[in-house]
Amino acid sequence: MAAEALVVKLGGSLGGAEPALAEVAGYAGAVVLVHGGGPQIGAHLERLGFSTRFEAGERVTPPEQLEAVEMVLTRLGKWLAHALSERGRAAVAVSGRDAGFLRARAEARLGRVGRIERVDASLLFALLEQGYTPVVSPIAVDHEGALNVNADLAAAAVAGAIGWPVVFFTDVPGVLADPSDESSRYPVLARAEAEALMARGTIAGGMVPKVAAAFLALEAGAPWAAIARGEPGVLAGVAAGQAGTRLVLEPV
Ligand SMILES: Nc1ncnc2c1ncn2[C@@H]1O[C@H](COP(=O)(O)OP(=O)(O)OP(=O)(O)O)[C@@H](O)[C@H]1O
Ligand SMILES: [Mg+2]
Repeated sequence: MAAEALVVKLGGSLGGAEPALAEVAGYAGAVVLVHGGGPQIGAHLERLGFSTRFEAGERVTPPEQLEAVEMVLTRLGKWLAHALSERGRAAVAVSGRDAGFLRARAEARLGRVGRIERVDASLLFALLEQGYTPVVSPIAVDHEGALNVNADLAAAAVAGAIGWPVVFFTDVPGVLADPSDESSRYPVLARAEAEALMARGTIAGGMVPKVAAAFLALEAGAPWAAIARGEPGVLAGVAAGQAGTRLVLEPV
């Protein structure tokens, strides 16, 4: 049986980490890769003398910072497309500006941050049908121009729109009961329990939008969603329920 088609979100926290890239490049099934860029954006904004602020794990993006954010994200997308292509998986980087395929409305309290409202999946399928792996940079558009989109939420919107499972690759092995103890991974986490962990602050920082995104993806039609560390063999491990954290709407 052919390997399952997947949306994979690559955390910016992984940078160009070889284990994660190798895992995506070598995966036997179709992939749509969505990437983040938190640390790279932070470093670039700092070089430019901007200060940054997060709200519930999401970067506030004042209009004057949007150009820098988009430059870093789209460069990263091109870098990833090249890196995958070099590893034998021909990839093409696109953002929501291309064919206007990600449309969003602005979440004004966060500046030029967008909530995706429409994904035109035909661009992704056109690339996939020709054998190319789409690499999606999380920039969407509205009537005024570009919007920064949290990459976890972008991956969720894409997975929901095309009805594929989504795996969030990050720098930890899954959702942890004790963030300082990697052996405390939840193999499965139901929504009510996850919400309690967020209220208690056990799930914090960048893990908040990631967990929220997993549930959004499930609600939007993704058959399953998981959070895992990007490393060799992990996609098969996640599919078999042996790696990462599976997020489920109802307790199993
Ligand atoms: N309960 C928890 N379990 C695991 N990680 C947690 C938890 N609470 C907070 N975290 C933090 O969440 C981080 C992952 O989110 P983060 O946003 O930093 O990375 P990313 O989403 O992979 O990258 P990017 O945001 O750049 O795309 C972990 O490195 C960890 O520090
Ligand atoms: Mg993040």
